[in-house]
This record gives sequence, C-alpha cells and structure tokens, in this order.
Amino acid sequence: MSEEPTLYAEVGGQEFFDALVDRFYDAIEADARIRPLYPADLEPGKRSLALFLGQYWGGPTTYSDTKGHPRLRMRHAPFAIGRRESEAWLDAMRGAVASADVDPTARQRLLDYFEMAATHMVNTPG
Ligand code: HEM
Repeated sequence: MSEEPTLYAEVGGQEFFDALVDRFYDAIEADARIRPLYPADLEPGKRSLALFLGQYWGGPTTYSDTKGHPRLRMRHAPFAIGRRESEAWLDAMRGAVASADVDPTARQRLLDYFEMAATHMVNTPG
C-alpha cells in the first residue's frame, strides 16, 4: 500500500475541483466552438465533472456511487467530438489549470491527464 498523499488531498480536496470546473465552464460558455454541444442548463454537467475529477484524483467515490462506472467515451458518444472540439475543450481546461494555485508537479500531472483524456474522447473525424 502506498502512503503517498493523493493529488486530491494535496490540492485541498473537492473545493479545488469545484473552482477549477467553474473556471472551465466560464470558458466553455464563451467558446462558440463547443458551447452548442452543451445543454442550456450547464449546472448538472458542471457538478458531474467536478465530482468525476475529485474521484479520479483520489477523492470520495460520489460520482460512481450516483452515476455508475464513468465510461466516459460512451457517455460522450452523443456528441460529435472532432479535433476542433477536443482542442476547444482543452483550451478551456488549460486556462482553468493555469489560474489554479498548485505546485508545478501537480499542475503538470493535471495538464498531462487532460491532454490524454481530451484526445481519447475524439469520436469523429475532422
Ligand atoms: C474532448 C472534448 C470534450 C467535449 C466536447 C465534451 C463535451 C461534453 C458534454 C457536451 C457533456 C454533457 C454535459 C451536460 O449534459 O451537461 C459532457 C459531460 C461530461 N464530460 Fe465531457 N467533453 C469532452 C471531454 C471530456 C474529458 C476529457 C473529460 C474528463 C477528463 C470529460 C468529462 C465529462 C464528464 C464527467 C461529464 C458528465 C458525464 C455524466 O456523468 O453525465 N469530458 N462532456
């Protein structure tokens, strides 16, 4: 068993992810490339993303307890995500990470993960 603190603990818990996702969604709202993919009411999705990220980085399993296994590629199947949409998503998240108060190692781990995940979510050519 590893005694390493999780990134979740290191950054101060769920509050960090709530704030990160708030900033991310502010950018989504302003981005004509992907705002149209999201529903009119952004609040439920915002909460889901914040809880998913908290769980992913070692926090409580609230996301899976309420929604089941993440299966993110499957959950994104209804949305046409090409390279352009993936880049737009990543731009918004990079901006949110840039203004987070975290040490360089944690920042890099977050950026590497988001880049990998956003690439993985592409499901449409072009
Ligand atoms: C690559 C571009 C991406 C696009 C265009 C995109 C778009 C969307 C959209 C439109 C929704 C539905 C929101 C709603 O119903 O309110 C959603 C949900 C979600 N996305 Fe993404 N997404 C992308 C990448 C990612 C990545 C990389 C992650 C994880 C790191 C992620 C995690 C989630 C989660 C957890 C939800 C909520 C799913 C649920 O439980 O209902 N998405 N996304």
